[in-house]
Amino acid sequence: MKMFSTLSICILVAQLQTSLAQVSIVGAGKKVDPYHYEVVKNGQFRRASVSSAHPLASMVGAAIMEQGGNAFDAGIATQLALAVVYPGAGNIGGGGFLLARQSNGELIGLDYREAAPSKANRDMYLDKNGTVLPALSQFGHLASGIPGTVAGLFATLPYAKLPFKTLIQPAIDLAEKGFVITEKQVSSFNAERENFIKNNSHPVAFVKEGKWHVGDTLVQKDLAATLKRIQNEGAKGFYGGETAKLIVAEMQSGNGIINEEDLMNYTAKLRNPIEFDYRGNHIISFAPPSSGGIIINQMLKMIEKYPVGTFGFQSAKSVQLMVEVERRAYADRAEHMGDPDFWKVPVKTLTSDKYLTERMKDYTSDKAGNSANINAGTIHESEETTHISIMDAQGNMVSITTTLNGGYGCKTVVGGAGFLLNNEMDDFSVKPGVPNMYGAIGGEANAIAPGKRMLSSMTPTLILKNKKPYVVIGTPGGTTIPTSVFQGIVNIIDFNMSAADAINKPKFHHQWLPDMVMIEKDFDASTKKQLMAMGYKLVERDGIGRTEAIRILSDGKKETAADVRGDDSVAGF
Ligand code: GLY
Repeated sequence: MKMFSTLSICILVAQLQTSLAQVSIVGAGKKVDPYHYEVVKNGQFRRASVSSAHPLASMVGAAIMEQGGNAFDAGIATQLALAVVYPGAGNIGGGGFLLARQSNGELIGLDYREAAPSKANRDMYLDKNGTVLPALSQFGHLASGIPGTVAGLFATLPYAKLPFKTLIQPAIDLAEKGFVITEKQVSSFNAERENFIKNNSHPVAFVKEGKWHVGDTLVQKDLAATLKRIQNEGAKGFYGGETAKLIVAEMQSGNGIINEEDLMNYTAKLRNPIEFDYRGNHIISFAPPSSGGIIINQMLKMIEKYPVGTFGFQSAKSVQLMVEVERRAYADRAEHMGDPDFWKVPVKTLTSDKYLTERMKDYTSDKAGNSANINAGTIHESEETTHISIMDAQGNMVSITTTLNGGYGCKTVVGGAGFLLNNEMDDFSVKPGVPNMYGAIGGEANAIAPGKRMLSSMTPTLILKNKKPYVVIGTPGGTTIPTSVFQGIVNIIDFNMSAADAINKPKFHHQWLPDMVMIEKDFDASTKKQLMAMGYKLVERDGIGRTEAIRILSDGKKETAADVRGDDSVAGF
């Protein structure tokens, strides 16, 4: 563990800045300065743009495109940069989904969701009396699924133009030479200090002697070495050789069960996207093992029969309708959705007109509905997935959501390899009817089995208007992801909002169980009153999601917006 006094930090930063002047982190003439950067919330760009959770990652993605890469190159480089500059959710120890539309119209749905290790079993988080042990599925080694992100990056590579070595170099530079952390990261590292100490037997880069302060630089040498092995050996630099050895050794030092075969056998998979029309727009989203695409399909189709635009934004009428479709869609999530390789998800039925009309038969427009009478789950605050939206000058659209699940995943860093492992096993239904950390209930469809991928809510989404690229959108937020994307789409299509307004206006969330509507702090007061009079239980909470959106304006410019709830930032040219 490195210890620095304030003076030595200043000297170190000065030295790093000098050496960085010699080694550009992106390439000739396209420099990203990790010591001086700003959060940029909005921009209109003529050619290409990126919106992501951290300014440096967005800048890396844009610079890669300026250097000749396309949106897929930017997707790879931005994810790798996020793994360094946004350790709370950016990752190589987690997994995700990439949804893209190539300029020739071809769609790509790439699933690199984590998978349960071969030694996993359905009751692995229960004690001998059948009681759930949530600490085991949420913290430490046993909480981790087999990481999928690196396999996903290499499965994306055939669609990219630049060599992988070029795409990973900015991340290596950021890890090796460091970057100045943001004020929010200072608070976050300080708040997580005890968790990091508790869940790690090796020193970790996020813990230093004393507190972190604004202006401090984070250097991650072990992570840089891992990234270099991936640069030199490809996916084998992660799933085999030294990195795999370090992961397995880390597992053995705790109570983990991921072994070398699990790592060697992991593959990314292609999934056919969910597609449907909504008020003349074509919506494309992610299929199982994400629940997101089906849920937004159900919700949008259920509200399509109503003139939502005339109800008014966040009026009691529009919110009540949207809450009721959220309730119905999330009830289906709990019962019917899981990894399609292990469970037959009735996608066609769930999204059919007949079924959705039937679902709305008991809808009453002035009264709260009622979810089944099951114990409410507690909602965990941390929903640290992350999203990247990208469009390039050729017309490629790329929407990527990746995750470690909770903030900093299971909080365990692989000793000597410098990256955090996920706690994605908690996204399985560890016991039917018992809520997970997001309060989500599940059943047989999402029970744990070796090699199975846990049900996700990640909803990377694309919208075409008149068959042409229109919107790229997505967000983190655990189970709130589909409702955030749903509301973002309705705000753009029904309420004609700009991309920035569509993602930043106050949001609400209902997920069937617990039977309550979560609302953000600045939610409209009069609507709140009216909803309570109808019988809704409203619970105020912190920000819902951190959505990144790009929308093409009528003059062809890419209106690019980053969520105001975090350090999210845009870059483009
Ligand atoms: N870990 C959040 C999700 O996949 O939905």
